[in-house]
Amino acid sequence: MRRIFIAGNWKMNLNRTESVALATAVAKGAAEAKSVDVAVCPPSVYLDAVAQAVRGSSVGVGAQNMYFEAQGAFTGELSAAMLLDVGCRYAILGHSERRHVLGESDELINKKTHAALAASLTPIVCVGETLEQREAGRTADVIRTQVEGSLAGVSAEQMLGIVIAYEPVWAIGTGKTAAPAQAEEVHVDLRKLLAQRYNAEVGQAVVIQYGGSVNAKNAAELLSQPNVDGALVGGASLKAEDFLSIVQAGVSRT
Ligand code: 13P
Repeated sequence: MRRIFIAGNWKMNLNRTESVALATAVAKGAAEAKSVDVAVCPPSVYLDAVAQAVRGSSVGVGAQNMYFEAQGAFTGELSAAMLLDVGCRYAILGHSERRHVLGESDELINKKTHAALAASLTPIVCVGETLEQREAGRTADVIRTQVEGSLAGVSAEQMLGIVIAYEPVWAIGTGKTAAPAQAEEVHVDLRKLLAQRYNAEVGQAVVIQYGGSVNAKNAAELLSQPNVDGALVGGASLKAEDFLSIVQAGVSRT
């Protein structure tokens, strides 16, 4: 049985005081939401403080990125071990902003995925097509290429420890969310792809989140889709009340 997983990607927002306040409010509000997995992903400089703020609660902490090397001369980068050390359970990898603004390739995301798995961090691997790609009818191809590249060399057993986030680039930060049926279609395709690459069990077991303009109003409808197992929330995760409404929509689904 797949668990619903609601994660907040705070991106490059909030200061230290605001981060701790938000994390504290989420931990308090999520206390009753035992049937749903909840995580917050603050800017890396606040990971430590946020992990302390949610300590003892059911809320997990995730990084928004990491590097694949274990240590050394990689100025500005953070290793999986460092993230674990400050209390992370998850690492978002291959977010579309890292793919498109910072030029990350599937090959790099694949190296990061292996490094996260080796350190027992749960990777949240993001995939998604641009508007141009969707309009050209290339969505399925783009998703397949991203999955094959980002998850190359990942075993069936490892795959069970990975979360996929389907985030259509055109829906991120635009207020234009995918229609529930559009999200469902890609999630079903992703399961077929996983079943082909691995086996039917893996296809059915992997948690696949939807991300892109999820908010308190549209979350329930998106989560009503049988293959949408949660949400990776950007803007609406910055207000505790909105984020907790989305968590609640997840609880109602269970
Ligand atoms: P928004 O919810 O702000 O569209 O961002 C989605 C996202 O990129 C989450 O990772």
